[in-house]
Amino acid sequence: MAYETLIVEVADHIGLIRLNRPEALNALNMQLLEELADVLVSFSTNDKVRCVIITGSEKAFAAGADIKEMSEKSFTDMFEADYFTGPTETLLRFRKPIIAAVSGYALGGGCELAMMCDFIIASDTAKFGQPEINLGVMGGMGGTQRLTRFVGKSKAMEMNLTGRFMDAAEAERSGLVSRVVPAKDLLDDAKATAAKIAEKSLIAAMAVKEAVNRSYETTLREGVLFERRVFHSLFSSEDQAEGMAAFTEKRAPQFRDR
Ligand code: CAA
Repeated sequence: MAYETLIVEVADHIGLIRLNRPEALNALNMQLLEELADVLVSFSTNDKVRCVIITGSEKAFAAGADIKEMSEKSFTDMFEADYFTGPTETLLRFRKPIIAAVSGYALGGGCELAMMCDFIIASDTAKFGQPEINLGVMGGMGGTQRLTRFVGKSKAMEMNLTGRFMDAAEAERSGLVSRVVPAKDLLDDAKATAAKIAEKSLIAAMAVKEAVNRSYETTLREGVLFERRVFHSLFSSEDQAEGMAAFTEKRAPQFRDR
């Protein structure tokens, strides 16, 4: 299916989604978010997709929600449409691993979209920020909540209150991104990382994703109990038997996602 705001490719078990609104630095409008949700729904049942990468251009992952689309809206418009919530819920419910490969600006909704992915690989040109306060508003897709959990209250508060940008080195130091790579290597690195994940048992990868995400939403005690239950349940999978047998027999495992 052809999309107007995205370029989508599936190859080598990786679903690659490129945000593609260059005229607006990939600003997120409803069309883009709905198309993104649509792709993810199709990827969830596509056996050729075992890991997803969301990326933008070299200049911008996404420079935020589309200010021009929002500027004339009233409270009731935003509230009635539950602006952004529907499509982003689809992303948050997506069960296969998603990597955000971020180069250039990841601001406002762009930073929030990256944080909704499972982890972020950043290029050395990446700039993260929640500058919504400069527009007389605030982050509305997790900028006050997820950023605080990633980088702690002090930095999140400062970024949301002043609108200042964080460069890639600071983002790595603060735990917002997993790694920083040279801009020219970003996509290759993200693809190599996705390929490594795609080799694993998808059942195990989905279980890891569910359990790590649970750690953000519950107490340590509950999270550890959840992890233990999921860990034990993996012993009913064929992939557990295969993975452990392959180790003992000194050969590569042949996972079948069963
Ligand atoms: N929405 C709509 N259009 C945007 C946009 C956005 N968030 N960001 C950039 N654009 C457009 C610009 O209007 C411009 O279009 P025109 O050529 O038609 O004027 C084009 O993209 C290029 O942008 P600039 O000329 O501004 O590029 P620059 O290199 O000089 O500056 C920038 C880059 C610092 C990122 C600057 O564009 C900027 O500050 N953008 C807005 C960032 C922002 O405030 N983001 C938060 C949005 S609100 C939000 O996200 C709410 C939420 O949490 C849900």
